[in-house]
Amino acid sequence: MFRLLLFLLLLPAPLMALEDSGYAAFDYASRWGTVTFTHLEHQKRVGNCMVCHHQGVEMGGCGNCHGVIQGLPQRKDVLHKKCITCHWKVRGPTECAGCHDPERLDERVYDD
Ligand code: HEC
Ligand code: HEC
Ligand code: HEC
Ligand code: HEC
Repeated sequence: MFRLLLFLLLLPAPLMALEDSGYAAFDYASRWGTVTFTHLEHQKRVGNCMVCHHQGVEMGGCGNCHGVIQGLPQRKDVLHKKCITCHWKVRGPTECAGCHDPERLDERVYDD
């Protein structure tokens, strides 16, 4: 009985999560070259959305708080921290060129 209840409680969560799962992949422009983040691949690898969306997926992108709310670390810094800390553990890329492609420079990053 308890198991059935647990099952029913857990069921809606993944369904809701799939409603808006964000981009399949996206590019971050940067002075060190574009970073392509394979969001969908990472969702499959990591499983739990909250590992990255630590305040909940419904709170939106990291830049909704980091770089906006005073006292919080900048988006670039928390992304580095989050991405690289996990990569140390799982042997994902940790060298600059493992994420940044120096061949792909978007000149607009120099505008600011
Ligand atoms: C695991 C992937 C990853 C690795 C490894 C990595 N970066 Fe990044 N880097 C990113 C991401 C993601 C951003 C976020 C860009 C943003 O916020 O728009 C970023 C942003 C930056 C930025 C800020 C953007 C800019 O144009 O000012 C700099 C500078 C930077 N990285 C330098 C480096 C250097 C130097 C190394 C190696 C020591 C490195 N990164 C390693 C993923 C990575
Ligand atoms: C490995 C880290 C990671 C995992 C795991 C992950 N995401 Fe993301 N997600 C990101 C990053 C990084 C962004 C871009 C946020 C930014 O740049 O501000 C993003 C963006 C999004 C966005 C767009 C937010 C917006 O308003 O811009 C949605 C929706 C989203 N993710 C849903 C999900 C769901 C649902 C899951 C779990 C099935 C998930 N994500 C798992 C890292 C992750
Ligand atoms: C709703 C606001 C909000 C959103 C959205 C958000 N964060 Fe945060 N973040 C916080 C707050 C508040 C803290 C400080 C308290 C804590 O650690 O939870 C924090 C802390 C962190 C830290 C620890 C920083 C440190 O140096 O100890 C990391 C890493 C981080 N966030 C990464 C992310 C990433 C990556 C995303 C996007 C996928 C994200 N955050 C989205 C509010 C947010
Ligand atoms: C919780 C763990 C985790 C987090 C957080 C994470 N990654 Fe990964 N990442 C992985 C794993 C696992 C792999 C696959 C490693 C392998 O098998 O070679 C990977 C591989 C990659 C690769 C290699 C190309 C690919 O997609 O296979 C890139 C680039 C990458 N990650 C970028 C990022 C960026 C940028 C972030 C932060 C926005 C990030 N990752 C956050 C676990 C993570």
